[in-house]
Amino acid sequence: MQYAESVMDLVGHTPLVKISKLNPYPDNLVLAKVEYFNPGGSIKDRISKYMIEQAEKRGDLRPGGTVIEGTGAGNTGIGVVLAARSRGYRVIITSPDKNSQEIIDTLRALGAEVIICPTSADHHDPANYTQVAARMAREIPGAWYVDQYNNPDNPQTHFLTTGPEIWEQTDGEIDIMVVGAGTGGSITGISRFLKDKNPDIMVIGPDPADSVYLNYLASGQVVVPEGVVSQIDGIGQSFIPGVADLSQVDELLPVGDEEVMQMARRLAREEGLFVGPSSASALLAYIKYVEKYAIHEKTVVLLFPDSGNRYLTKVFSDAWMSKQGFTI
Ligand SMILES: Cc1ncc(COP(=O)(O)O)c(C=O)c1O
Repeated sequence: MQYAESVMDLVGHTPLVKISKLNPYPDNLVLAKVEYFNPGGSIKDRISKYMIEQAEKRGDLRPGGTVIEGTGAGNTGIGVVLAARSRGYRVIITSPDKNSQEIIDTLRALGAEVIICPTSADHHDPANYTQVAARMAREIPGAWYVDQYNNPDNPQTHFLTTGPEIWEQTDGEIDIMVVGAGTGGSITGISRFLKDKNPDIMVIGPDPADSVYLNYLASGQVVVPEGVVSQIDGIGQSFIPGVADLSQVDELLPVGDEEVMQMARRLAREEGLFVGPSSASALLAYIKYVEKYAIHEKTVVLLFPDSGNRYLTKVFSDAWMSKQGFTI
């Protein structure tokens, strides 16, 4: 008989899928690492599982304990609740009120207690969802705060799993890796692993207009772009998280909301890849990189972090697209 002992044993080992119709430069082999094949539907299942296992090993998390995390776009919350409930922990997830009702309902369906916080509270504000999570973890006996923004096991997960999988799946022939940064865990862990294997591999990524990462990589300065709010969930940041080490990242390329949303819709309809805007951003970053440097005959891997299911009321809604002023 062949079966998994637990759904959490199915985390990782996601496939690479070739991008055909939407690769304008077909002499490059472009492969998407499709993370929606994880049981919770995103790359965040990987870090959730590993961060909880390591907390148990250190004794930070004990039987009967409570796992607390904030979830910016929903994916980490879903990964954490899956990993923690399957091990018998109480789970509290704090969420900004911009998250859709489907995400909140999914978290509750999986057994989380969800606390909604104002999106308008920035990360220093005590009402911010990460601040609320940290405070509750201090106040509740036996509670442990996952803290993906500062937990070194977040990038370490990608150093131990995502990076090695990409290396093995491409027989070490990867030339260019394209990854977006939210917490920066994926880009940090993957770039560390791949550059250790072969320092000539280029690691690049997309960055939305409201993010500090691109300017930080170019100038070392953290400047929050004023008056811009990007709708590209999951990537971009208004500060440099503790886990984000961009020292092995070669270049970030700016991506605009409208072009990203249009590309997400095309990926669903033309490639059958029903993925979220951060995945479409990776494909656009690749296209912009080729336009800039005339890259030929390279093997390129794009990280596709999550599923389009999370965005039915956003990018996949014609009404939402029109409301943003985006052409459908
Ligand atoms: C949809 C999506 N894409 C990309 C990312 C970025 O991953 P990381 O936090 O590892 O930088 C996230 C993180 O929340 C995400 O939810």
